[in-house]
Amino acid sequence: MSTELRIRNESAATAEADAVVVGLIPAGSDGNGPTLAPGAEEVDAAFGGKLAEEFALAGASGKADEVVRLPSRGAVAAPVVVGVGLGKPDADGKPEPEQVRRASGAAARALAGTGTAVSTLGRIDLPAAAEGSSLGAYTFTAYKGSNGNGSGAKNPVERVDLLTTADDGEETLRRCAAVADAVRTARDLINTPPNDLYPETFAARARELGEAAGLEVEVLDDAALAEGGYGGVLGVGSGSSRKPRLVRLRWSGGDAPRAKVALVGKGITFDTGGISIKPAANMDHMTSDMSGAAAVIATTVLAAQLGLPVAVTATVPMAENMPSDTAYRPGDVLRMYGGKTVEVLNTDAEGRLILADAIVRAGEDDPDYLIETSTLTGAQMVALGTRTAGIMGSDEFRDRVARHAQATGEGGWPMPLPDHLRPDLDSRIADIANVTGHRFGGMLAAGVFLREFVPENLPWAHIDVAGPAFNSGGPWGYTGKGGTGVPVRTIFAVLSDIAENG
Ligand code: BES
Ligand code: MN
Ligand code: ZN
Repeated sequence: MSTELRIRNESAATAEADAVVVGLIPAGSDGNGPTLAPGAEEVDAAFGGKLAEEFALAGASGKADEVVRLPSRGAVAAPVVVGVGLGKPDADGKPEPEQVRRASGAAARALAGTGTAVSTLGRIDLPAAAEGSSLGAYTFTAYKGSNGNGSGAKNPVERVDLLTTADDGEETLRRCAAVADAVRTARDLINTPPNDLYPETFAARARELGEAAGLEVEVLDDAALAEGGYGGVLGVGSGSSRKPRLVRLRWSGGDAPRAKVALVGKGITFDTGGISIKPAANMDHMTSDMSGAAAVIATTVLAAQLGLPVAVTATVPMAENMPSDTAYRPGDVLRMYGGKTVEVLNTDAEGRLILADAIVRAGEDDPDYLIETSTLTGAQMVALGTRTAGIMGSDEFRDRVARHAQATGEGGWPMPLPDHLRPDLDSRIADIANVTGHRFGGMLAAGVFLREFVPENLPWAHIDVAGPAFNSGGPWGYTGKGGTGVPVRTIFAVLSDIAENG
């Protein structure tokens, strides 16, 4: 069930709703309780100018992710005033978009089980409040109870009305709701368990989503992959009875596309490690090893829905990495799409193998830019933690992508591709090996491997989202447990930037 978003231009004190949301900001060094964020003026007046004091008495501090409820006892039309912490603003005193997004998300989570809410955060930053509300309200209940919600789990808040005086509010809302829906779609795909989402069914979902948005869709099955010489996808997929696929989705970019962008996403529907099998602990996390694929599928669909003037082609390899008597082995040499050979020294470094095929295929379309994203290495989390993607590639474009990753709040940091790591991938018998003989710079080594398959002089970026794609901790801001949909908003922001600036 999805939460409806609307915009409204009226007083927060008289608006009919089950709850009214106001923002709280931590006090400076002079006080203990929070101060009210802009937008809460009418509610404060209805409380005789003492709303901040009331929240302080109720224990509110205004810190991020804090939600405190006050009964309104008739002071305003809504029976409850929900105070949500924005955290400390910058020196200029204005909350950042990401603070509004997270606070709106925290409020939406806390409002589960509520009918309608009116949010004054729309007055601070309408797009941020819209995105945060929709994403924070997200739940995945398809497997709860017998009919989707027999578990006693609360339903998401039914409707959030964002207060705003913006003239272009409807247009802003339409765009933000579409972006949030793309993230929600990616989350749904990631959260679908691997016994139901495997290459064949994943490809079918991609086809459905693509055709509904008017995309050109092409699905290569295992026979077509063999015919085409996709040795990476076939090798990785060979251990599973669930045969691999390669999906291609194409959005034309409309009448006058500004540029041509290739997207590639890792679609390992479950990663056991294969013969180089992973330890059992937390292996269930590997249901999210298709997060890159989910993100590029959802973003391509979004580009079409919003008529973005950029031609986008997604190339999405899908395979299940399993050990069996038909599985590929350490020591195998795979002949990749395009002819390069790879010695497999570790079957758990499978992502780069399916991606190499896909990157070479994507390069044949002669794109202006290539963006690839994947849950590629545990080393990403060692280097940057669970909330900051590692972004590699050609210097300029990498930095451009990283700027958008930061602006969207998804998070990402530019990382190098040191040339000196390349000889560590030298193979005794093939053109390249899939792993180095050491664990240093593991995220970068994977990027250096991928670079071998990127056409010369093509601006490209590799976004390693091993940590950010899946939240195995508690909910925070607009991010619940499970699939996060990162980096849908980053890629979409880059596409929008290219649409505007080339
Ligand atoms: N899918 C994993 C990476 C991963 C690990 C993503 C944890 C999210 C959470 C990837 O296929 C993998 O297994 N990588 C290996 C590479 C190694 C064998 C060089 C790794 O990181 O251990
Ligand atoms: Mn692996
Ligand atoms: Zn993997």
